[in-house]
Amino acid sequence: MRITVKQQVLLAPATILVLLILLLAFMQYSYWELSFKRREAKAIGTTFIAVAEADMAARRLHVLLRTMQHTGMAAPEDMALVADLYERMLASIGRIRPFGPLGESGHISHLVLLAENLNPADSPEIEKTAELFAQFRAELSALSNITQIYRNQLRLAQEQDIGQLVERTATVSMVVLVLAILLGLFISIYFSRRILNRVQMLSHSAARIADGKLELPPAPDRIRDELDTLAISINRMTKRLIRVVGTEKLLEGAEEERRRIAMDLHDQSLSDLSTILRGLQNLASDLADKPTREKTENLEQDLERAIANLRDIMNNLHPQTLDILGLGAAIEGHLEQHCCADELPEYHLYIDPKVSDLNLDRIKQLSLYRIVIEAIQNVIKHASASRYEVSLEVRENILVLSVEDNGQGILDENNRSNGRGLNNIRERAKAISAEVNWKQSRFSSGTRFELTLPCDM
Ligand SMILES: Nc1ncnc2c1ncn2[C@@H]1O[C@H](COP(=O)(O)OP(=O)(O)O)[C@@H](O)[C@H]1O
Ligand SMILES: [Mg+2]
Repeated sequence: MRITVKQQVLLAPATILVLLILLLAFMQYSYWELSFKRREAKAIGTTFIAVAEADMAARRLHVLLRTMQHTGMAAPEDMALVADLYERMLASIGRIRPFGPLGESGHISHLVLLAENLNPADSPEIEKTAELFAQFRAELSALSNITQIYRNQLRLAQEQDIGQLVERTATVSMVVLVLAILLGLFISIYFSRRILNRVQMLSHSAARIADGKLELPPAPDRIRDELDTLAISINRMTKRLIRVVGTEKLLEGAEEERRRIAMDLHDQSLSDLSTILRGLQNLASDLADKPTREKTENLEQDLERAIANLRDIMNNLHPQTLDILGLGAAIEGHLEQHCCADELPEYHLYIDPKVSDLNLDRIKQLSLYRIVIEAIQNVIKHASASRYEVSLEVRENILVLSVEDNGQGILDENNRSNGRGLNNIRERAKAISAEVNWKQSRFSSGTRFELTLPCDM
């Protein structure tokens, strides 16, 4: 299963949070259970008071009615009191709550029936009234007893329940808290070790690569999170780096070999040819015979041309101006020497003064030199241009080398013949971590070759 690093970091606190929310829900449920029982106890208390009030009202009503029936007189204030007492009695009965056993017993409905029969407005007879009051008060007393018994039972049960509830809440809280702490600890230790181990491994690998020890770091065989993706990227990066360094070493070796050949040519062939030239010059001055002297002088000129050509070859093999004067001057020297003939396109060269501040090592300078020479050669050979611009600029620590012509434009890869030149440019650029591309020129037609190379100042 794929879990992101963010999820791995958040898993432990999220687990603790979920457990604490469950605990809170449990406590809320316990509180709700407790409050339900409290409501029941309150209903019993209300009923108890209502029964007592109904009994008191009934007793007074009975006394008053009996006195009135005995004396046979009913003063208006007595009648009002009777009505009021009856109303209070009915109101008290109305407050009786049908809790627990009272709900189904039928006591309440019987009581209501008896109360209706006791209505003083119906002016019942003395004996019947006494009997009805006796029944009514007996019913009230039964109700009171039931309420009292139930109240006692409930109080006892409630005491037990509250004890149990407190005990249960405490136990569950403890268990959940301990579980949350242990689980949180376990999850955070497990995932932090999993993350840390790999981060350490990656940082060791990166440090080794930075120190130049190009060993391939291990790559995981399946991707579980971003760290595995990073490990695979570092592995691929190292592979590419090893390849680039290999190419760079190869190029360095080739350049070294060219330098050695140039030195041999200079020290051996050039000095031999110079000796022969001096010999010929001496011979020509000693010769009295004119036609023979002219022939010797012609030979002398041929030899001078051969020596000049050899110098060109040597310079091409190992451009000494590059070592002595730097990249800009070497390019300028090449253009002046080889690209000034009338039949060749006109060129314009721009070298940014900041180029000389760049920290370019020898192999980079050589590669850039050879790339620009090949790009110029291509303009001359293939572009049919009348003009081209060679520019070397520094833009925000990036060296931008461009050769832009107004020729016929370069064909796309599928339609042009693939010579070694463009491949060499690409290989050399790759070896020094530069990027190259060919696009439409800013002239009305033609090609712009551009190379970009990030540099230190
Ligand atoms: N500046 C350019 N303008 C037009 N075509 C070009 C230019 N540069 C290269 N090309 C095309 O790219 C092809 C390959 O060039 P390259 O690899 O240098 O071969 P070559 O060794 O013949 O110079 C050329 O044959 C030419 O068609
Ligand atoms: Mg070429």
